[in-house]
Amino acid sequence: MEQKISILAFGGSLRQGSYNKALLRAAQELVPEEAQIEIFDIAAIPSFNQDLEDNPPPIIKGFKAKIKAADAILIVTPEYNYSIPGFLKNAIDWASRPYGDNAFDGKPVAFMGGSIGMLGTARAQYHLRQTCVWLNMFPLNQPEVMVPFVQEKIDANGRLTDNKTAEKIKELLAALVAWARKLNRGLSF
Ligand code: FNR
Repeated sequence: MEQKISILAFGGSLRQGSYNKALLRAAQELVPEEAQIEIFDIAAIPSFNQDLEDNPPPIIKGFKAKIKAADAILIVTPEYNYSIPGFLKNAIDWASRPYGDNAFDGKPVAFMGGSIGMLGTARAQYHLRQTCVWLNMFPLNQPEVMVPFVQEKIDANGRLTDNKTAEKIKELLAALVAWARKLNRGLSF
C-alpha cells in the first residue's frame, strides 16, 4: 500500500460565509481515500514586508514548513477584479521568499474556485497559473473547476449542495493525487 498523499490547501476569502471556504471544506470530504487534505488558514497572515523576509513572523515559518512537507498543494480562490485576491497573493509572496528558499519549489498544485458571476474565477485561476512559472510549481491542467453562480450551490449552512460540482471536485482531487504520484516518482510518465 502506497503512502497517503498529503495535500495542503489554502484560500477561500476572509469573510465568514465565504463560498470558497465552503468549497474548501467540501474538498476535504471529497478527497480520495489515498490522500488527505489539511487546511491552512491564511486569514492572520500580515502584509508582506521584504525587510522581514529573512526572519518572518511565526505564522509564515509555520506556513512554509507545512508547504514544504506537503506532497501537493490545493489553492481555492475567489476572483477579485478579474484577478487573484490580494490576501491570497500576499500569502503566496511570503511563502516564496527569501530568494533561494521558495517553499513552493517543485510542488504539484491544483486550483479551484467559485464566483457569483458566470466565469467562476477563470481569470483569477489563469493569473495564478502565471505565478507558477517563477514559483516553479507544476499546475494540474485538467479538470478545471471554475464554479459559476456559486451562491446557488452552497446552502445556508455553508455546505455544497450541487452534485455536478461535487463530482468535478472529486475528479480534480483524484487527478491531483495521480499527478503528485507521477511527479514524486520522478516524472515517469
Ligand atoms: C468580487 N466579485 C467578483 N466576481 C467575479 O466573478 N469576478 C470579479 O472580478 C469579481 N470581483 C470582485 C471584487 C471584490 C473586491 C469582491 C469583494 C467581490 C464577486 C465575488 O464573486 C463574490 O463576492 C464571491 O462571493 C467571493 O467569494 P467568497 O467570498 O464567497 O469566497
